Amino acid sequence: MPTLLCHSNDIVDGGARGFDPTAAGRDTVFVVRQGEALFGWHDQCPHEGVTPLPYKRHGYLNKSGSRIVCFAHGAQFDIRTGLCLTGPCKGDSLTPLALFVDGQGQVHCSAGKLAHSLEEKPSRATPECEKRSFSVDSEAAKNECASSSVCL
Ligand code: FES
Repeated sequence: MPTLLCHSNDIVDGGARGFDPTAAGRDTVFVVRQGEALFGWHDQCPHEGVTPLPYKRHGYLNKSGSRIVCFAHGAQFDIRTGLCLTGPCKGDSLTPLALFVDGQGQVHCSAGKLAHSLEEKPSRATPECEKRSFSVDSEAAKNECASSSVCL
């Protein structure tokens, strides 16, 4: 069952925003916007499994906004693939979050395995997981996103 996160306009281009869809008391997933593309990730660093990434709420990106950063030990991740490019978990990946945007521009995530996935150590992204991003206003991309639920 999908869980509403926000309206797509609530995430600024080049920014990131965290969400607490399971009422855990802290943000457990986050979405990064680059132009019309949204990228959803679980807020868990693969270095130590359950460590949240930001140093402050919504602080997922480096100063230039070009990479996702874990502020615990400085790992840096590619925004689009989740792959750790530098840091203590280089080569590991963030856990993707399947997203879709409805006809009103509301962003939803597939919450079926949200709670369960919080207990799992993130694994490397699979080729199927690389489909979890989509264009905000593309019908074809919405269909592609639906197939990415295998990543959760
Ligand atoms: S916990 Fe993220 S880099 Fe160490």
